[in-house]
Amino acid sequence: MDIKKNNAGDRFRLKKPSGGMGVDNAPEFSEWVEEIRNQNTAYTLETGKTKKFKIEIFGCQMNERDSETIAGMLTDMGFEEVSKDKPADVIVFVTCCVRENAEERIYGHIGALSGECEENGSFIIACGCMMQQSHVVEKIRKSYHNVKIVFGTHNIHTLPQLLYRYITGKKRVFEVWEKEDKVVEELPIKRTDKHKAWVSIILGCNNFCSYCIVPHVRGRERSRDINDVLAEIKVLAEDGCKEITLLGQNVNSYGNDLGEKDLFARLLYAIEDIEGIERVRFMTSHPKDLSDSLIEAMKTCKKVCNHLHLPFQSGSSRILEKMNRRYTKETYLELVSRIKAAIPEIALTTDIIVGFPGETVEDFEDTLDVVKKVGFDAAYMFIYSPRKGTPAAKLEQDIPSGVISARFKKLVDLQTEIATDLAKKFEGKSVEVLVDGPSKNNPEMLSGRTRSNRLVNFKAENVNKGDTVYVDIIRAGAFWLEGRGGKKLG
Ligand code: 5AD
Ligand code: SF4
Repeated sequence: MDIKKNNAGDRFRLKKPSGGMGVDNAPEFSEWVEEIRNQNTAYTLETGKTKKFKIEIFGCQMNERDSETIAGMLTDMGFEEVSKDKPADVIVFVTCCVRENAEERIYGHIGALSGECEENGSFIIACGCMMQQSHVVEKIRKSYHNVKIVFGTHNIHTLPQLLYRYITGKKRVFEVWEKEDKVVEELPIKRTDKHKAWVSIILGCNNFCSYCIVPHVRGRERSRDINDVLAEIKVLAEDGCKEITLLGQNVNSYGNDLGEKDLFARLLYAIEDIEGIERVRFMTSHPKDLSDSLIEAMKTCKKVCNHLHLPFQSGSSRILEKMNRRYTKETYLELVSRIKAAIPEIALTTDIIVGFPGETVEDFEDTLDVVKKVGFDAAYMFIYSPRKGTPAAKLEQDIPSGVISARFKKLVDLQTEIATDLAKKFEGKSVEVLVDGPSKNNPEMLSGRTRSNRLVNFKAENVNKGDTVYVDIIRAGAFWLEGRGGKKLG
């Protein structure tokens, strides 16, 4: 295997592809990388061209972060990244299986590329959560012949080896590790942005919410060593990064598997001392694990943004029990009150599932009630999707689909109204914005985020991506604020 135990502890470290901080006699990772890099160099010398890759990302921020590692490895191997609209020799699909429609879209996209693959002699690598399911791998093997390499969430770091095996053997390579291993540190990374970065702190999930496939495809919780996390953030800060988002399926349990208590709060305090970092965000927080010491840390740490993503999934205590969420409507609302009392300017966002089997009119009314009582800045709302292998998938779906769609629409309408009302309060105010670059919908405008994570589109002169500016808000809608100006802060 191409990983090795590090003398310093129980972390596994890869030797860096080009020397550096790796362990002695480190094994094959760097060798596979080098083999492919040599082949790519030879190809360039011969043809004057460079082998290209592109990545299609589906799903959550974890997948975005994993894609940066995949891009880092491919770049180290001598491939050049191109945008999605350009042809590429290697097309990577980082997949998601949290809901059925994500899977269907992915099959559709892969199928649609068969012509392009044939024409250009290119091929697809499929990886990520969906590939951890054996029935998916079988379907890909049988019906999607343009997919030549498959790996799962637990063996991302084997990509160079798998690629080498495919290129030299010309046979499809399917390798999915069933079980998670230790955290692999020091993999190459090609970050999407310089001014903001994802930093994963804990992998996997132990919660087994009854509807959720994630623990089945991402394995048990494994926390990164706090020193590794802090070292990564320091390097980012030295490189000009201003905002970091700490990632985990449940960041509140960071350190539990290491026998540490309140390690997440301690991490927030430690980041306060890292010069250059202006904003700290994190996601996701499970309500059952959000401790008073974390609320205190959020209140005390100046860099921690006034935004908290706190999924409640359902407002009905009866449904919450069936979902195995381990809190009730009352304890959730009580937690929200404590957070608001400590941090009055907090912006809360959430995830909500509609149509969980057995959801009655009263249960759904409880969901609407929580939405009204809390006042979320934004909510990600989903129709329940049964996932093979989860306990909830065995429950009979007794709610007609028309009823579910009607409830979903009612919820979306209510949430949009609330988000609009909250947004209107920004009109006439000046807000701090970290600029992400030109707006996606209107390139004449810039766009960025407030500390509370609201999207702001604005017009300004001499303002660039990565600047922190003050913007005067002139108009507000549920999902955006519009402003002008842009007095630079830094
Ligand atoms: N059906 C619908 N939504 C789901 N989620 C997770 N599993 C399912 C499912 N089976 C939602 C939850 C979670 C978010 C990431 O996706 O709301 O918080
Ligand atoms: Fe899924 Fe629940 Fe874990 Fe979130 S906390 S990833 S919803 S099992």
